[in-house]
Amino acid sequence: MDWGQENRLARIVRRPHNRALMLAVDHGYFLGPTERLEDPRSTIAPLLKYCDSLMLTRGVLRTSVPSSTGTPMVLRVSGGTSIIGEDLSREDITVSIRDAVRLNATALAMSIFVGSKYEYQTIVNLGRLVNEAEECGMPVLAVTAVGKEMARDARYLSLACRMAAEQGAHIVKTYYCEDFEQVVNSCPVPVIIAGGKKIPERDALDLTYKAVRAGAVGVDMGRNIWQSDNPVPMIRAVRSIVHGNADAGSAWEMYNRLVSESTGPRSESG
Ligand code: R5P
Repeated sequence: MDWGQENRLARIVRRPHNRALMLAVDHGYFLGPTERLEDPRSTIAPLLKYCDSLMLTRGVLRTSVPSSTGTPMVLRVSGGTSIIGEDLSREDITVSIRDAVRLNATALAMSIFVGSKYEYQTIVNLGRLVNEAEECGMPVLAVTAVGKEMARDARYLSLACRMAAEQGAHIVKTYYCEDFEQVVNSCPVPVIIAGGKKIPERDALDLTYKAVRAGAVGVDMGRNIWQSDNPVPMIRAVRSIVHGNADAGSAWEMYNRLVSESTGPRSESG
């Protein structure tokens, strides 16, 4: 890895403890105006200072994030199908590397769909994206997307994460599962977990804690933060696990304290 690539990656996976709190707000690229992300600008604004990096599309970046921000941007560069379309796995690269550089992206992100109908296409696209990204010193985040018919178990997720790393991804996003150590230990690059569908806050904090304890460097979490009634307390509680080594119980106490200190739901601190 060259200096530029290392420097970019270090802005996402923070030294000295190699931990990452990435806030995912890219859902609209196939889900449209997702609940509580209808107006990305107002969802992102109160959370921006609490995340290490923001994962998003170029459309949301251009329209909904102040260009004065110092937060690193992880730019989703894949897409092509919608939640109501033919097959979600049929993704291609939709953003040029030149535009990503122009937008000052710190890393590029794309999905692979191992075991799906379009597995070949997405894996080859990952290899091609890494080829181009290497020329610009840009790290690539591979997202292991899981079709409804796939089991989210350690066997499948280890396969998908390892394949992503073998193609040259510099960081891999996947889902937490039982025996998650197996997934992390067989993947030679840092692993972060997605939060998935909204679950109770206490459960999302447990998920975060268990993933980090098993070796994940952190999270790329979206709905379990901004679909919470108290997004700022939630991101701060998640942060206390990722960066503060808090356990899930302490993070839950912190969440409740911050909620009770806030003036009302969905205020700056709630
Ligand atoms: C899904 O492919 C999107 O890329 C999201 O960024 C990802 O699922 C993480 O968000 P969430 O925590 O809401 O699952």
